[in-house]
Amino acid sequence: MKILMVSSEAVPFAKAGGLGDAVSALALALARAGHDVRIVLPRYYCLDRSRLESIGGPLGVGVGFAEEFAGVYRSSLPGGAVPVYFLDHERFFGRDGIYGTKAEPDFADNPQRFAFLCRAAFQLCRSLAWIPDILHAHDWPAALAPVYLRHLEGRTEFAKTASVLTIHNLGYQGVYDKESFSFFRLPWALFHGAGFEFYERVNLLKAGLASADCLTAVSPSYAREIQTPEQGFGLDGLLRFRSADLVGILNGADLDGWDPAADPFLPANFSAGDLSGKAACKAELQRELGLPVDPARPIVAMVSRLVEQKGVGELFGPLSGSAYRVCSDMALQFAVLGSGERWCEEEVRSLAGSLPNFRARIGYDERLAHLMEAGADFFMMPSRYEPCGLNQMYSLRYGTLPIVHRTGGLADTVENYNQDTGAGTGFMFDNLTPRAIYDTAGWAVWAWYNRPEHIKAMRERAMAKRFTWDRAAAEFGKLYERALERASCRYGDA
Ligand code: ADP
Ligand code: GLC
Repeated sequence: MKILMVSSEAVPFAKAGGLGDAVSALALALARAGHDVRIVLPRYYCLDRSRLESIGGPLGVGVGFAEEFAGVYRSSLPGGAVPVYFLDHERFFGRDGIYGTKAEPDFADNPQRFAFLCRAAFQLCRSLAWIPDILHAHDWPAALAPVYLRHLEGRTEFAKTASVLTIHNLGYQGVYDKESFSFFRLPWALFHGAGFEFYERVNLLKAGLASADCLTAVSPSYAREIQTPEQGFGLDGLLRFRSADLVGILNGADLDGWDPAADPFLPANFSAGDLSGKAACKAELQRELGLPVDPARPIVAMVSRLVEQKGVGELFGPLSGSAYRVCSDMALQFAVLGSGERWCEEEVRSLAGSLPNFRARIGYDERLAHLMEAGADFFMMPSRYEPCGLNQMYSLRYGTLPIVHRTGGLADTVENYNQDTGAGTGFMFDNLTPRAIYDTAGWAVWAWYNRPEHIKAMRERAMAKRFTWDRAAAEFGKLYERALERASCRYGDA
């Protein structure tokens, strides 16, 4: 099949979170399965044009009041099997930031910027004389692509193209002033008719969810959770309405980039059969962070965006968070790497100043993220909600047992410890509260000191887990067939 991925992120070109990892890894796996997969991205300012191949343009794109023009550049994902096209537009993308900057986290013209991306995707295909069977859009920035397909392109050369919209995170929907709608160049009847309307504002994701032929969420549990009022962020009704077309497909993890036996970021490599390298990584991590070098002390690590979604309120909240007591009451070491909300960065810094066994690095650091996964004994991921989550999968592979909230992809990838039988691959709690984090960290530390044979067996079990992108790609292959069937009856309800 010919598949076009429309996305705002794809590594190694643009990444703000797991979305960038997931889009590229899925594209590569689909290409391995024999599909003709291509990706379209904005040419962000940070992507040096001289390292991309210019393939012409400008493409005329029908958005706004006058036509906008896009330059087109090309490169490919590492390995060369997946072409990546970049749309160049000075006013929309000639600045730092994918969605915004520290000073302006969500650019005011994001609806225009991403509408331009989605509309231009069709012009790009026309200019390449390459009409995809599947238009696969990711999250709110690409959500207009299925809307354009259904409402503007349904009777053009795209008549047979089917659309799939993947929800990586329902917490971000792209909600903007109603006025932005006129930029999309869709008839006003579609403000309600295509599902844009959300409390008298424009909701891009909502329109995409109403328009796409098939919907996916990045884990089976998350696909169920988002249909409930608690986790539906106001869209659970629509998602229940579309539940027959919504499936959960668990992401894979990048098994090459995150392989303890070959990881170039580590001072020593290791495998389930020989964990001596892991001990060396632990010592290195302790040295690097200025913690006492002690193999007997368990290290709990956390690598995360420091935002509400990740449970940082319950962990680091200045008055109520449990991290202070976890560190002062328990014989462990705690290491945090992350950046995000200012209050949280400050709180984490101040904990590091007052607790001898707590260390933090504020910022984004790929190498340290690998060393922490490798050198730690436990991985803290108390997310409020987690559509899939990549870090717990990396942790399992590195024999670092996750301590998690039973939600979304965490529930689908981690098995809870059973202290009678020693079964499991991690430690879970059901309701996210500071107390639950405290108790569950305490449980893990108890097992560390009192059930070392269980910890050893859990590690081996965890390291044997394989969450592959090839399996995810095979599930998407089936879903694409279904989407094509749905698309072929599109005119029944037109
Ligand atoms: P999300 O996309 O919601 O942030 P995921 O678990 O899917 O969560 O993906 C997070 C990705 O970002 C992982 O690849 C993780 O290693 C990486 N990451 C997050 N924060 C940092 C950081 N401060 N330094 C290095 N890598 C980080
Ligand atoms: C989002 C989610 C995360 C998921 C990632 C990739 O960033 O927050 O849970 O792993 O997308 O699908």
